[in-house]
Amino acid sequence: MTIQEAIVARHSVRQYQDKPIEANVVERLNEEIALCNQEGKLHIQLVVNEPKAFSGSNAFTYGKFSGVSNYLAMVGPKGADEAIGYYGERLVLLAQTLGLNSCWVGLTFKKQPDQYRIADGEKLHCVIALGYGATQGVQHPMRPMETFIKVAFGQVGDTMVADQPDWFKQGVEAAMLAPTAVNQQKFEFELIDDHTVAARARFTLIGYGKMDLGIAKYHFEVAAGKENFVWV
Ligand SMILES: Cc1cc2nc3c(=O)[nH]c(=O)nc-3n(C[C@H](O)[C@H](O)[C@H](O)COP(=O)(O)O)c2cc1C
Repeated sequence: MTIQEAIVARHSVRQYQDKPIEANVVERLNEEIALCNQEGKLHIQLVVNEPKAFSGSNAFTYGKFSGVSNYLAMVGPKGADEAIGYYGERLVLLAQTLGLNSCWVGLTFKKQPDQYRIADGEKLHCVIALGYGATQGVQHPMRPMETFIKVAFGQVGDTMVADQPDWFKQGVEAAMLAPTAVNQQKFEFELIDDHTVAARARFTLIGYGKMDLGIAKYHFEVAAGKENFVWV
């Protein structure tokens, strides 16, 4: 499975099989985590065989997640939300190609501070559950493509979408498949000129706007091709 295929195949999975992640898969994930941490100046850590974060029956976890024993502790500097989203999704999609399933989790887990390290100035932004899913999840509902595209004054609707270059439309389509907190999808893309794209988080009361934006930007880059554009 390619990363492009993983974008289509990935859905949030909250029920997992009682099966440890294979050693070679753990090794591959740790290699990629090291690269992401280096490039993104983050402190992401893989926690395996640790069921406590998703056990018990508090108001959040009850009935929702089961069988979660592995997760990415998404640790990084305070304010690094967009990078956490971008590099976390790079790991999520790699995990999908390695036969794993995943779910970003901002709230519905219990912190286990003895399982990961948080340096001065850093925080645990969220976790990402990983493992062999009991299901493959389902496709989230999506708004029409034109609602994700910001256009210059005077352009409207379908005409405007049809006028965009293919690589840009492919990027937006891939971003629409991205996970976002409560599926809020509060992001937009704008083609500024032939090879420049702006991506913005829209206002959200729920939060996670910047993290969602980082996730969506990673999807966009994979599908649009980094050689076709630069971010503004
Ligand atoms: C930043 C972020 C935080 C999330 N937090 C939670 C959470 O606390 N609990 C949960 O069950 N799902 C959580 N999700 C998963 C979303 O509900 C899910 O991605 C969204 O509904 C879209 O579905 P999909 O991932 O299957 O495409 C989170 C997703 C993101 C991106």
